[in-house]
Amino acid sequence: MKAIIIYNTRSGNTELLGNKIKELMENQGIACEIYRDKAIKNTPNIVEPFDILCLGSCTHANGPAFFTFRGLLKKIAKLDLTDKKLLCFATAGDKTNWSKTCDYIKKRLSQMEYLGNVGCVRRNIEDALPEIERILSTLS
Ligand SMILES: Cc1cc2nc3c(=O)[nH]c(=O)nc-3n(C[C@H](O)[C@H](O)[C@H](O)COP(=O)(O)O)c2cc1C
Repeated sequence: MKAIIIYNTRSGNTELLGNKIKELMENQGIACEIYRDKAIKNTPNIVEPFDILCLGSCTHANGPAFFTFRGLLKKIAKLDLTDKKLLCFATAGDKTNWSKTCDYIKKRLSQMEYLGNVGCVRRNIEDALPEIERILSTLS
C-alpha cells in the first residue's frame, strides 16, 4: 500500500502534522511521499499511483487555505479516484474549527472511500495521535 500526503501550511503547523502522519504510516509499512501543495499544483495526477490520499491544510476562514490548496482539490476531484482512500487532516486556531476544514476536503472528494478526519489546534499534534492510530488500525 502506498500513500501520498499533500498539505498547505503558512507557519508550519500543518506540515508538522503531515510529517507525523507520514512517520506513523511508515512505521506500519505503508510507503509514503509528502508534498507541499504549491510544489505539485500543476501536476495533480501525481496522486494516480497511490492507494491513500492524505490531504491537509491550515484553517483559513473556517475552511482550507485559499487558492493553491482549494484549486488543487478541484483538480484532484476531476481525476479517476476509483479504489483510492481519503484521509483528511487540518490544524486550526480553535478546537472547533479544524474539522470544518477536513469536512470541506471530504465534501469535494466524496467519490473516495473516506477514512477519517485528523486534526489539532496549532502544534498540539499529540491530540491527533489517537485518531491517526485508529485509522491506521483499519488499514491492516
Ligand atoms: C489568515 C489566517 C486565517 C485564519 N483563520 C482561522 C479560522 O478561520 N479559524 C481557526 O480556527 N483558525 C484560523 N487561523 C489559525 C490557523 O488555522 C492555525 O494557526 C493553523 O494551525 C496554522 O497552520 P499552519 O502553521 O500550517 O499555517 C487562521 C490563521 C491565519 C494566518
